[in-house]
Amino acid sequence: MPVFRALRLDKSDGEFRREYVELDDADLPSVDDPDQPGTHPEVVVDVDYSTVNFKDALAVADQSPIVRTWPMVPGIDLAGVVSSSDDPEVPVGQRVVVNGWGIGEESWGGLAQRARVRGSWTVPLPDGVSTAEAMAIGTAGYTSILCVLALEEHHVTPDSGPVLVTGAAGGVGSVAIALLAARGYEVHASTGRPEEADYLTTLGASTIVERSELSESGGRPLARARWAGAVDAVGSHTLANVLAQIQPEGCVAACGLAQGMDLTTSVAPFILRGVTLRGVHSVHVPRARRIEAWRRLDEDLDRDLLASMTTTVGLDDVPAVADDVLAGRIRGRVVVDVNA
Ligand SMILES: NC(=O)c1ccc[n+]([C@@H]2O[C@H](COP(=O)([O-])OP(=O)(O)OC[C@H]3O[C@@H](n4cnc5c(N)ncnc54)[C@H](OP(=O)(O)O)[C@@H]3O)[C@@H](O)[C@H]2O)c1
Repeated sequence: MPVFRALRLDKSDGEFRREYVELDDADLPSVDDPDQPGTHPEVVVDVDYSTVNFKDALAVADQSPIVRTWPMVPGIDLAGVVSSSDDPEVPVGQRVVVNGWGIGEESWGGLAQRARVRGSWTVPLPDGVSTAEAMAIGTAGYTSILCVLALEEHHVTPDSGPVLVTGAAGGVGSVAIALLAARGYEVHASTGRPEEADYLTTLGASTIVERSELSESGGRPLARARWAGAVDAVGSHTLANVLAQIQPEGCVAACGLAQGMDLTTSVAPFILRGVTLRGVHSVHVPRARRIEAWRRLDEDLDRDLLASMTTTVGLDDVPAVADDVLAGRIRGRVVVDVNA
């Protein structure tokens, strides 16, 4: 059995440990249903790249109950090549991306050189997307396109008016700006880092909104209608203030909680302006929608812009990067080359 490296977290005995270990395929836990063996055919993936999302940072730094079973290989994303397969739908040699489905939380994830996953969790990568680009996009970018699709489904078009992206310099925000601008939207970007204004403008934002304009509590239930729609990665008071400033019939795609999980608002935007608050999740999205999301990412996302928002690190750098993510020091996306 080939030996490979993994970052492994453990808290089985109550004390948190983080270590780099050498494993072989026999160490990779089954992800089939133990009560009905064979119902979820498995594949083993030679991982090329993973990433450090906000959730991964919390898991690696043991800051929030992300991990449900111990020991755990973290990493909610991976991209690589199928090296063995029990699933007739997923051939050996297929380039795949896996986002969510509880990897890095309930079953072992992508911060390792090999991973065992259910075949049904894999999405074949479009020919135009490399495994490195897939992880530059990662769950953050894939969630961004889900938000864009949600706005489109609620008839927010480039003709409807400007759209807002909150948490703009983060991973979800950066990709959302690039995707919306590519489709011709006028994008306003809310950030707490004014020094990133040039970066956000390069991605396609035309107006920078100071984070503090939106992040305070006690805002009015309805205010001047500024935006036709919004992608909100922040939640809390920011989401409440954004809802109050959405145009009639507009929509907010809410996917994040960077400011907080709370939401204190009123019904005014809904009953007086017909505003839609559309929740966006990424973990258990059906495969067909994932395939459409990756097709749209391939079509819409400018690869030079993606490169400009991406930093690449090695597996050994992950704990330090996790601290940076949690401290808000990371701009855009971080790719982990697990073989570096
Ligand atoms: N629903 C889902 O399935 C899903 C999927 C992916 C991510 N998420 C969530 O989406 C959020 C963003 O993820 P990400 O990967 O983009 O994280 P990230 O790269 O860490 O970016 C978060 C951004 O939010 C802003 N921010 C941070 N703290 C804030 C605060 N206290 N008040 C207001 N803004 C603040 C910052 O943007 P500026 O510096 O520009 O202000 C920061 O860059 C996270 O909460 C994550 O858990 C959810």
